[in-house]
Amino acid sequence: MTAKLRIALSKGRILDETLPLLKTAGIELLEEPSKSRKLIFPTTDSNVEIIIIRATDVPTFVEHGAADIGVAGKDVLMEHGARGVYEPLDLKISRCKLMVAGKVAPGPVNGRLRVATKFVNITKRYYAEKGEQVEVIKLYGSMELAPLVGLADKIVDIVDTGNTLRANGLEPTELIAEISARLIVNKASMKTKHATIQKLIDQLGVAVENANR
Ligand code: ATP
Ligand code: PRP
Repeated sequence: MTAKLRIALSKGRILDETLPLLKTAGIELLEEPSKSRKLIFPTTDSNVEIIIIRATDVPTFVEHGAADIGVAGKDVLMEHGARGVYEPLDLKISRCKLMVAGKVAPGPVNGRLRVATKFVNITKRYYAEKGEQVEVIKLYGSMELAPLVGLADKIVDIVDTGNTLRANGLEPTELIAEISARLIVNKASMKTKHATIQKLIDQLGVAVENANR
């Protein structure tokens, strides 16, 4: 691990919504990631660099110390387990709900309920806690399609406006968790770079409060 502070973000909404918060701590990208094939980006703070990776890989990089800090959705953290990292701050961005959904007019279920999702661990845990035996079908995207083509009876997916469900004749049936993006910190970095990281946590905490007034 370098002496620099390395922050892991993912392209898309997490990057878009985290950058304004980092700006309040004097951290801004020097170049536009969407116009670059680079993966490591310097910032206006010469001691801080930002790496841009897949959303689902953020906990892995932070857990192993390949990044000191990361921003990941609570859904991703719940799915990953994220035991090896601290989660000191709810950034209250990228808010959505993790829900079970199904057809508005479902037919009868013969045998075990089939649930399609990319959140396999969360889904298994959720139904195990309910004491229900289900068949979990792993998908990597477009979960909403599964009930329409007879692949599954239900899905477990992110719901924000509900537009994607509605557009496909589906409706949410159960809430699993309220989701928002969290700041995560490598446990060793929290000790070795404590002053720098604590200062950043405090600055981001103020930025989050101001943004949610
Ligand atoms: P990957 O690109 O690795 O498949 P992804 O498509 O889930 O990941 P994003 O769509 O950028 O990546 O989502 C990042 C995080 O934002 C999710 O983990 C979730 O917490 C949240 N999120 C996902 N979809 C929505 C949405 N429609 N509205 C609000 N927040 C969302
Ligand atoms: C997410 C999620 C749902 C949709 C829900 O997909 O997987 O499909 O948003 O949002 P809504 O309730 O407002 O319609 P996203 O747009 O991030 O696409 P992707 O995950 O397939 O990249």
